[in-house]
Amino acid sequence: MGRAQADGRVAVVTGAGRGIGAAVCHRLAADGLSVVATDIDEAAAQVTAAAVGGVARRLDVSDPDDVRGLAGSLERCDVLVNNAGIWRFAPLAKITPEYVRAVLDTNVLGTVLCTQALAPLMAQQGGGAIVNLTSITAHAIPPGVGIYPASKAAVIALTKQTAIEYASKGIRANAVGPGFIPTPGTLDTYGADEETQRERGCIVPLGRYGTPDEIADAVAFFASDASRYVTGQVLFVDGGVTEASMLFMFAAQS
Ligand SMILES: NC(=O)c1ccc[n+]([C@@H]2O[C@H](COP(=O)([O-])OP(=O)(O)OC[C@H]3O[C@@H](n4cnc5c(N)ncnc54)[C@H](O)[C@@H]3O)[C@@H](O)[C@H]2O)c1
Repeated sequence: MGRAQADGRVAVVTGAGRGIGAAVCHRLAADGLSVVATDIDEAAAQVTAAAVGGVARRLDVSDPDDVRGLAGSLERCDVLVNNAGIWRFAPLAKITPEYVRAVLDTNVLGTVLCTQALAPLMAQQGGGAIVNLTSITAHAIPPGVGIYPASKAAVIALTKQTAIEYASKGIRANAVGPGFIPTPGTLDTYGADEETQRERGCIVPLGRYGTPDEIADAVAFFASDASRYVTGQVLFVDGGVTEASMLFMFAAQS
């Protein structure tokens, strides 16, 4: 997708160094936004920023000073995509307090901090759009995935709360829930090669895993004026997984 002429709007994307975050940066740049690509991995953020003609910033979303520093350095913000997320899969019986804190700090606290810090910039220019990344695991929980589904269920609640509390400032908040999307962070789960991904993808009603670009399309919808009367909503972009019964999955596997 090509880069469009910048139209003056600014999008901040967290976890922009790779995977879904990088795809979102490409899509928003193509839609004419100037992208601030942020990531805890500064080198990765720089690669994305260079590719989309944006700027890179190192940002740990769970660090209040980092987040304040980013907000203080910006003159405007029209779109915030809270995409940075981590997971470490393990049965509940095996998870430690440190692990729980780490996942909640990035996925939940990070979303709160970025929202708190950047919403005032949006309000000052009359409004904006916040898009949070949740997950199908917030809706249908597989075993052995630790605190991750709880963190993403919290993101859904936060999205609705943000929508209600910031509506009067002209700020909309919605969430996108990806299904099975091979990215650098998920190759262990979905298979590193295309053949494995194709075989495993047949459990999805639409017959295949999704792509980061397909998630970026949904994020772009919520970021744009096309969704100007939509707030507090969750869109699962999952090829039908959240609505498929176990019977479908067993049939697809056999
Ligand atoms: N890929 C999927 O199948 C899938 C499914 C459901 C939900 N999601 C969600 O989509 C989002 C992106 O997933 P992905 O697969 O692209 O992940 P990924 O691991 O490929 O990329 C995540 C990026 O976030 C960055 N990051 C991690 N911790 C950070 C922090 N504290 N501050 C700032 N940046 C940080 C990483 O450096 C990395 O660049 C996540 O929120 C994830 O939970 C992904």
